[in-house]
Amino acid sequence: MNIRCAKPEDLINMQHCNLLCLPENYQMKYYFYHGLSWPQLSYVAEDESGKIVGYVLAKMEEDSEDDPHGHITSLAVKRSHRRLGLAQKLMNQSSRAMVECFNAKYVSLHVRKSNRAALHLYANTLGFVIHETEPKYYADGEDAYAMRRDLASFAKSDTNKSS
Ligand code: ACO
Repeated sequence: MNIRCAKPEDLINMQHCNLLCLPENYQMKYYFYHGLSWPQLSYVAEDESGKIVGYVLAKMEEDSEDDPHGHITSLAVKRSHRRLGLAQKLMNQSSRAMVECFNAKYVSLHVRKSNRAALHLYANTLGFVIHETEPKYYADGEDAYAMRRDLASFAKSDTNKSS
C-alpha cells in the first residue's frame, strides 16, 4: 500500500471512491478546484496495482480573518481496505503539508454525529476536538460536529518523531 500526493489524473478515481463511500458527493469541478489550488494537500492511497483505495481531499480556508487553517473536505477508504491505518496516514500527510506549505495553525472538518468510525478516528487517534455542533448541517437534516485539530502540537510531536 502506498500513500502519495494526488495528481490531476487521480481526481476522477477519488470521485469514484467518494461515490462508493459517502452520501456527500461533489461535482468534478470541485475536485479540480482543490487539486489545482492546493496541489500539496490532497493525498491518495493506492494498492499494489496502483488502484486508488482511499483519499483525503483538503484545502486551505480562504475567506478567514482567523489564523491560517486547513479544512478536510472529504476522507474515505474503500470498505475492502479499512482498519489498515490508511485514513490515519492520509490525514497526517495532509496535516503535515498544511503546516509546511501554508503555516496552518489548525485543521477543521465536519462529521456526522452518527459516524462512529470517523469520530473515533478523529477524536481518539488524531486528537481532534469538537469545536461546536452545527444543527441540520447535512442535506438529510442530521447535525454535524465541527471539529478541529491543533497543528502546532502535531508539528512538534512530528518533529520529535523524525529527529
Ligand atoms: N470503529 C471504531 N474505530 C474505528 C473504526 C471503526 N469502524 N475505523 C477506524 N477507527 C479508529 C480506530 O481507532 C483505528 O485504529 P485501530 O484500527 O488501531 O483501532 C483508527 O481509527 C485508525 O483507523 P484507520 O485504519 O486509519 O481508518 P480507515 O482507513 O479504516 O478509515 C474511515 C476510517 C475513513 C472513517 C472509513 O471507515 C471510511 O471511509 N468510512 C466511510 C466514509 C467516511 O465516513 N468518511 C469520513 C466522513 S467525514 C469527512 O469526510 C470530513
